[in-house]
Amino acid sequence: MLTQREVLLIKISWSYLVALEQEIGILFYSTLFELEPRLRPMFGASIDAQAQKLMSTLTYVVSCVQNTENYERDLEELARKHDSYQTRPEHYELVGKALMITLREVLGDNWDDETELAWVKMYTFLSDKMIRAQQQFASSSTLIN
Ligand code: HEM
Repeated sequence: MLTQREVLLIKISWSYLVALEQEIGILFYSTLFELEPRLRPMFGASIDAQAQKLMSTLTYVVSCVQNTENYERDLEELARKHDSYQTRPEHYELVGKALMITLREVLGDNWDDETELAWVKMYTFLSDKMIRAQQQFASSSTLIN
């Protein structure tokens, strides 16, 4: 899990991000669809609505940092949803990459290598858990069929 310092770095950068919802949303999705245009149809048409969803994603990530006991159950639910969106393991790397590019750009002087490492560690931890949970749904539905 994350060190206390990493948790602190994530919380500090989060406090700057809260006011920047639109900016982050637009930059994140344009970066993601530039990296992989085939992901565009997975998301709804309105980037405004997507920007809000991205913030709910980031809120979720930060809440996992703060509340490490309850997130496991939520994560399974989230993995189930992502299974229905047809999210594949290789997509997680692209989303992580687009996220870091966006945060670095938007936060400017409030972003540094140590903060980036903390976010990467958190994102990798969550995506590993989600990928594993999705694989379990896939293998249990194969057993049922
Ligand atoms: C650790 C990684 C991720 C986290 C924590 C996360 C979290 C979330 C959350 C909280 C939502 C909103 C769910 C709701 O509306 O109830 C969401 C929606 C969504 N996510 Fe993720 N996500 C992650 C990775 C990904 C990846 C890799 C993809 C694939 C490209 C993806 C695609 C989507 C899509 C398509 C939606 C629904 C958007 C819509 O309703 O239009 N997510 N995600």
